[in-house]
Amino acid sequence: MSISQEIEAKINILELVQRYVPLKKSGANYKGLSPFVQEKTPSFMVSPAKNIAYCFSSRKGGGPIKFLAEIEKIEYREAMQLLAKEAGIELKTDFHKERGSNQTDIFEAYKIAANWYHEELYKSENSEKLAYAQRRGLTEATLQNFQIGYSGDSRGLFALLKSHGMSEKDILESGIFVSPNRDKFFGRLIFPIANFTGHTVGFTGRIIDAGDPKYLNSPASRIFNKSEILYGLHLAKASIMKLGYVIVVEGQMDTVKLHQAGFTNTVGISGTALTKEHIALLRRLTTKIFLCLDMDKAGVNATFSSLDSLLNEEVDCKVIQVEGGKDPDEFIESGGNFTKLIEEAISPVQFFINAGKSRYDLDSVVGKTHVLREALKYVRRMTNRIEIDMSIKYLARSLDISENVVYEELKWVKAPPKKDEPTGMMSLDFWHTLIGYCSAYQLYDLFLASIDYTDEHFEGIPSFDFIRSEILAHLGQSESTDIDSIKALELQVEAENEWTQRDTILLKFSELVKRAQKLMYEHEKQALASSMDQNSIEYMQAHLSLISKGKKLGII
Ligand code: UTP
Ligand code: MN
Repeated sequence: MSISQEIEAKINILELVQRYVPLKKSGANYKGLSPFVQEKTPSFMVSPAKNIAYCFSSRKGGGPIKFLAEIEKIEYREAMQLLAKEAGIELKTDFHKERGSNQTDIFEAYKIAANWYHEELYKSENSEKLAYAQRRGLTEATLQNFQIGYSGDSRGLFALLKSHGMSEKDILESGIFVSPNRDKFFGRLIFPIANFTGHTVGFTGRIIDAGDPKYLNSPASRIFNKSEILYGLHLAKASIMKLGYVIVVEGQMDTVKLHQAGFTNTVGISGTALTKEHIALLRRLTTKIFLCLDMDKAGVNATFSSLDSLLNEEVDCKVIQVEGGKDPDEFIESGGNFTKLIEEAISPVQFFINAGKSRYDLDSVVGKTHVLREALKYVRRMTNRIEIDMSIKYLARSLDISENVVYEELKWVKAPPKKDEPTGMMSLDFWHTLIGYCSAYQLYDLFLASIDYTDEHFEGIPSFDFIRSEILAHLGQSESTDIDSIKALELQVEAENEWTQRDTILLKFSELVKRAQKLMYEHEKQALASSMDQNSIEYMQAHLSLISKGKKLGII
């Protein structure tokens, strides 16, 4: 057994995948929405028996190591290292040292730094900073839960990271430091930002009291990309699934305070708008999204742009409006009832009207036309007829115009181009399907008996190398070159035949074999014609024997 097989044997793929993707049982396997593509129909399968997880839309995934590498966007060897640790297997080569800077080091550095900052907050010399956090209404439990910290000693952290075996170059590349004795976040309250699994991947630091910039963020990196990270998601995911909806707010403070007030299904978008990537992340947990962004100009624009991304995602979306120019944090601090706000959340179309009121004179023809057309751009892209009808009625009522006119306007508003997105299963090519059958139902012998196999016969056939290596592996003459793909093929073939009886499977297989024979026959015929003089005796003899072979096989 190779070292990676040894590691994978000790990892429970189901448990590993479920850290990232909610799954439903489907026969002997598990199914879910693929974490690798944006999709509405689940095409992601996990087979505990085969120990693989595979997405049929994007063809991504594989055994535990490959899955982890792809989902964490790290290299195979780094994923191997992480899982070796989990499996309690010691790897002889230390990949870190060998490769210099790499991702595992960044994860570790961020973890060490987060702990360091958190401890710093409680040092006596930083008591005023702790007092600021308390003044902002953060309780002890919240400070712990979100591991909030303070950066007050750059050199100490730098030395600590060095003592963990990191090179100066790696530490500087981590994005935490500007120079060996200058921490980027120095003098700021630290909010560690974690990814879906809870690994810290970046920081945002708030200035104590007032100053500019108010918040400072880690630079974008392989592991930290604002448009793919939702603040607090690792703490919110269980609650989002339980409650069946998510609240999306703008800021760190808003997220933390809502959690503290019991709204633990809240995540933050760190001052951006909701992106397609964010939505894909959330879709794994729920299809009900409540947007609660600031109602200032920037927030309203971010709401518009988020609604735009949410269109046609088949998610149910509402907008929570906090009146009086407050953000959720300020609303809660002032004793506001947030549950009531959730209950009063409005539909996107209602939001268009509300936002329109403050921007245009809705008694004027110009104002009405403008707001109606903007709202209709949204309605025009809706796919649910009931939702369209409800929206039209609402718009007619709010703008005091007839429903007919709204319908006419709707026709008039041009639909933006549709975006393509991969959904559902992709069909496998013929030869891959055949190999899938051979492998899943141990039909290689049957296949080989009906095809006379030599490299020459297969030369020029797509997937030739793959077919050959699998056949050789079957014959015990080599190792399978790509166990993960062969397992994925087995899984797909098995999933398609979940309720099929063996007789029917054999029947399907014999059809595949027949088609293979035909393809091979045609292939051979062409090869013959192009390699020989067609007027020669040799050609005629070869041709005749080919024809009699075809007849014998019953394909001509
Ligand atoms: P806000 O300016 O609304 O701040 O920015 P806030 O969340 O209310 O913070 P407090 O209550 O004053 O402490 C919203 C979000 O935008 C990002 C941060 O993620 C912030 O939480 N932001 C803001 C930045 O990244 N940089 C900035 O300079 C300001
Ligand atoms: Mn605020």
